[in-house]
Amino acid sequence: MNIPRHIAIILDGNGRWAQSHGMPRTYGHIRGCANLETVVDEALDLGVKYLTVYAFSTENWKRSKDEVEALMKLFRSYLKKCIRVAVHNQIRIRVIGETTAFSKEIQQNIAELEEVSKDYDRMVFQIALNYGGRDELTRAMRQMAREAAAGTLSPEEIDETKISGYLDTGGIPDPDLLIRTSGEKRISNFLLWQLAYTELYFTDVPWPEFDREQLICAIEHYNNRDRRFGGVKKKDE
Ligand code: FPP
Repeated sequence: MNIPRHIAIILDGNGRWAQSHGMPRTYGHIRGCANLETVVDEALDLGVKYLTVYAFSTENWKRSKDEVEALMKLFRSYLKKCIRVAVHNQIRIRVIGETTAFSKEIQQNIAELEEVSKDYDRMVFQIALNYGGRDELTRAMRQMAREAAAGTLSPEEIDETKISGYLDTGGIPDPDLLIRTSGEKRISNFLLWQLAYTELYFTDVPWPEFDREQLICAIEHYNNRDRRFGGVKKKDE
């Protein structure tokens, strides 16, 4: 089986999964969080080199106050726990998104996590928090405009590689496979630039039930596709 180098996942369906079990939505997030730990282990075991998950979008602030608070509580405890997981598994963790919107405590947890894990290379695990693809592109363009105005970036230098470098994911290869759980068939503002040539896999399975078997199923699906880039096969194939 050809394992995709970079897998991106839109973690969807926690709320509906919990409600279908007669439980509050926040319970779904707790189970979703536990499942994320399991799937990180499975991805490592399969040899995935980059894993990027969409945990909180720029739109998610519109959810009820109780749900947002429950998610923040979960992020605080998960980010702390992640330090041990990163050290134990030699995983580098990066957080992408506009993180200044979070509490000081969460920002400190993120800074610590990124610093502690920065030299690990068994896998890069990117967590998208307060992330939106358009927001990321807007921030990148602002930065480029600032540098152009200061005379340190010339318009002629700007090409696709240069733009990629200004994104939150700078230095990380684009995803080979995007998985979205729980039935919706949308990108929902995730990695808009980076997903240009990514294979898309949608499953009805809700995130809390997405396990190793499901992951392998998604990878097999990816393997069965004839990956083409504008009619030309990818160079490494
Ligand atoms: C989508 O389910 C999930 C989220 C908005 C939050 C994802 C968060 C986690 C899996 C928690 C763990 C993550 C980290 C990094 C700690 P939904 O609420 O949109 O479900 P629904 O579509 O059924 O309403």
